[in-house]
Amino acid sequence: MWFSLAILLFIFPTVTAITDLQVNCTGPDRRYNDTSCYVMVKTVKRHTIAKLLCNHYFGYSGHLYHIRNAAAQAVTKELISTYSNANDKIFTGLEPINESAALNDQNNWAHYYRDGTFVSATNLPWAPGQPSTNNRVYYQPSSDKIFTQAEPTTSFYICEYEEALKQPVTDLEQKCFNLMIGSDFTWFVNDVCYVLQAAVSKTYNNAKVSCNAFSGYYGHLTHIRTMEEVWMADALRTATGVTYARLGIEQTNLSSTNASIGWYLTTPTNQSMPATFLPWASSNPTANKRTVAVSSGYRKIFVTVDNATAYPFLCQYGRSTLSASTGTPGKSTFFL
Ligand SMILES: *[C@@H]1O[C@H](CO)[C@@H](O)[C@H](O)[C@H]1NC(C)=O
Ligand SMILES: *[C@@H]1O[C@H](CO)[C@@H](O)[C@H](O)[C@H]1NC(C)=O
Ligand SMILES: *[C@@H]1O[C@H](CO)[C@@H](O)[C@H](O)[C@H]1NC(C)=O
Ligand SMILES: *[C@@H]1O[C@H](CO)[C@@H](O)[C@H](O)[C@H]1NC(C)=O
Ligand SMILES: *[C@@H]1O[C@H](CO)[C@@H](O)[C@H](O)[C@H]1NC(C)=O
Ligand SMILES: *[C@@H]1O[C@H](CO)[C@@H](O)[C@H](O)[C@H]1NC(C)=O
Ligand SMILES: *[C@@H]1O[C@H](CO)[C@@H](O)[C@H](O)[C@H]1NC(C)=O
Repeated sequence: MWFSLAILLFIFPTVTAITDLQVNCTGPDRRYNDTSCYVMVKTVKRHTIAKLLCNHYFGYSGHLYHIRNAAAQAVTKELISTYSNANDKIFTGLEPINESAALNDQNNWAHYYRDGTFVSATNLPWAPGQPSTNNRVYYQPSSDKIFTQAEPTTSFYICEYEEALKQPVTDLEQKCFNLMIGSDFTWFVNDVCYVLQAAVSKTYNNAKVSCNAFSGYYGHLTHIRTMEEVWMADALRTATGVTYARLGIEQTNLSSTNASIGWYLTTPTNQSMPATFLPWASSNPTANKRTVAVSSGYRKIFVTVDNATAYPFLCQYGRSTLSASTGTPGKSTFFL
């Protein structure tokens, strides 16, 4: 009886599949375990690009995988060793909480989600002498340990899709994903599509009216108002390798000689809102440079840039219709 049940399960593997995620989590490159699907990608990428590419599986807000417990470690160890090689180095979703603080402090490391939030990481299988002072982390099955590695180094990676993060796939998510080709990088998070086209540079006035990649969707230069959005912008800028990416923030008072005051979140069409979150990089802001870009130095990434110089720019796209409830200044995350 058990034998025939086993045959039945073998012939009809979907008999045991319960969720959509389980249905889609079959194949040599993936394993389903404890409400997560782990997918190994055998193409080497920089950490930040791997992070962006984990969005490829719609509807689950994919992220680089979290070694959150012994089971996750065991199941991914087995996956890597059978699908590839036990000596492979596989990027994880671990990142420092504060890149300026000691990277060799185990308490400075956390599991990051796609939206820039993170959960603290405990009982991590650090190799002896780890973490060292590099800013990303890979796992290696042969030693069953994790090691730090500098961000630009390329590695294989594992993406994780969680049942708890399931959400309907929207038209905008699909369009956002499809746009990620060549030097165009996109990031879909919290119903917003962010786009950074590394090969396109514009002055501020021109960039401001150029967020038109998706017809039917309202776009504008990106507004950053939280540390999570700083993390997201840093990921896109680092992935593209551009030095500056313009934001929709400007000093509207042209007579002002004090760069510390008068910054506004702006769009091509709507009323400006005061910008209160301004994580200036050191030596910034500079007077008479009336626009803002993100640059390197995660956590303090705002720099002032000249409005008339052409730079790449970061766009965001939200809902297709602006109702009264979504268009209220200061209320909507989609609009302002
Ligand atoms: C998951 O599987 C279902 C059923 O086979 C299919 O309809 C759906 O398109 C799959 N989803 C993804 C994201 O591949
Ligand atoms: C997850 O994988 C681990 C390691 O293979 C295994 O011990 C555990 O039973 C699995 N959990 C579930 C719910 O399948
Ligand atoms: C990050 O670490 C640096 C150096 O220890 C410290 O000065 C800074 O306040 C920290 N930033 C945050 C946001 O914790
Ligand atoms: C603009 O800046 C100038 C110079 O600092 C100041 O005198 C003036 O009051 C400001 N105008 C507004 C509308 O804030
Ligand atoms: C610029 O404005 C800030 C905030 O109002 C003020 O603290 C600072 O003294 C001003 N700087 C100059 C040079 O006027
Ligand atoms: C924002 O702009 C849109 C499109 O021009 C307009 O329909 C909407 O009323 C504006 N909202 C506000 C608050 O000004
Ligand atoms: C730069 O800003 C000045 C002052 O607002 C404006 O006159 C000029 O048109 C702007 N140039 C560009 C290219 O954005």
